[in-house]
Amino acid sequence: MIRSDIRALSAYHVQDSQGLIKLDAMENPYPLPDALRRSWAERIAETNINRYPDADMARLRQTIAEHEGVDPDQVLIGNGSDEIIQMLLMAVDAGTCVTPTPTFVMYDLISHWLKRPVASVPLNADFSLDADLFLNICNREKAAIAFLACPNNPTGNLWPEASIKKIADQFGGLLVLDEAYGPFADRSYVSMMRPNVMVLRTFSKFGWAGLRLGYLLGEADAITHLNKVRLPYNINSLTQTSAALLFEHFNVFEKQAADIRAERGRVTAALTGLEGVEVFPSQTNFILIRVAGAQKVFDQLLDAGILIKNMHGAGGLLSNCLRITIGSPAENDAVLSTFREIMS
Ligand SMILES: Cc1ncc(COP(=O)(O)O)c(C=O)c1O
Repeated sequence: MIRSDIRALSAYHVQDSQGLIKLDAMENPYPLPDALRRSWAERIAETNINRYPDADMARLRQTIAEHEGVDPDQVLIGNGSDEIIQMLLMAVDAGTCVTPTPTFVMYDLISHWLKRPVASVPLNADFSLDADLFLNICNREKAAIAFLACPNNPTGNLWPEASIKKIADQFGGLLVLDEAYGPFADRSYVSMMRPNVMVLRTFSKFGWAGLRLGYLLGEADAITHLNKVRLPYNINSLTQTSAALLFEHFNVFEKQAADIRAERGRVTAALTGLEGVEVFPSQTNFILIRVAGAQKVFDQLLDAGILIKNMHGAGGLLSNCLRITIGSPAENDAVLSTFREIMS
């Protein structure tokens, strides 16, 4: 009944985090402030869940468009950016999907679900991107679509503008610049948008992971066609209501993102000072490190009640790598003191 290649896949595993300091999924550690939580509860209580949601999401598209300085018809909204990755892979021309490796796993995984061939371009040992190699592989594969996460997950770095521009200028297929970690990066590549370059964003890392809300910015004509493979009512009423309110308090989340960036600096400096820990520079809300015996270090952190992400199993450049989401100052202190004990 079920395709053999689907049977052969391992399910996307989400580790149980109950009772743990949860630093494995790049979430914002701050809950909603009390006053905002009360206004939110009132708005939610007024939402009519007996009716289907607004299918066109005109208001939400307008709000996002104003925020981004584009027209509302250049905005496609998804149930998380994951859903938009799926829509793109369903709708673009047949042909290979090219991604760097390592990168965000969903590009490859969804391609497999949809029987789209994939080709990987290895990053250099320092996680830099060889733009010429990337273009060569795109040409060799006659690629239809390519994804570049800017900044990249799980490596945390942001490839230089010149490399991205070179690829944008020379690639003949659709290039998707995934700015999921945009709120924590020094720069955005949104100005590179053109008919074959689209920009993907999400509110998940910004503090709204539970809402599942992402969006794609692109040329109006392509967005119109992509909307045809969007499931009707993909964004539920509670998410639409919540987003309308949260946009009125955007500065709360911008301040949190600034605090997270500052904490990232503090945690980076402290980990860099520990012997045996290699820390990679990050433009995101997480830090990738390499440490001998990563599995043991991961287990020791878990014993101390701290859940991070063990990347060692992916092998290759990620051997002995651990990914640590930046948490609240107290959570970060717990990480640092546990690390000091482990490494001493
Ligand atoms: C690069 C990148 N893109 C997209 C996503 C998916 O985000 P969303 O929660 O919007 O589906 C992630 C999640 O970790 C990510 O790292």
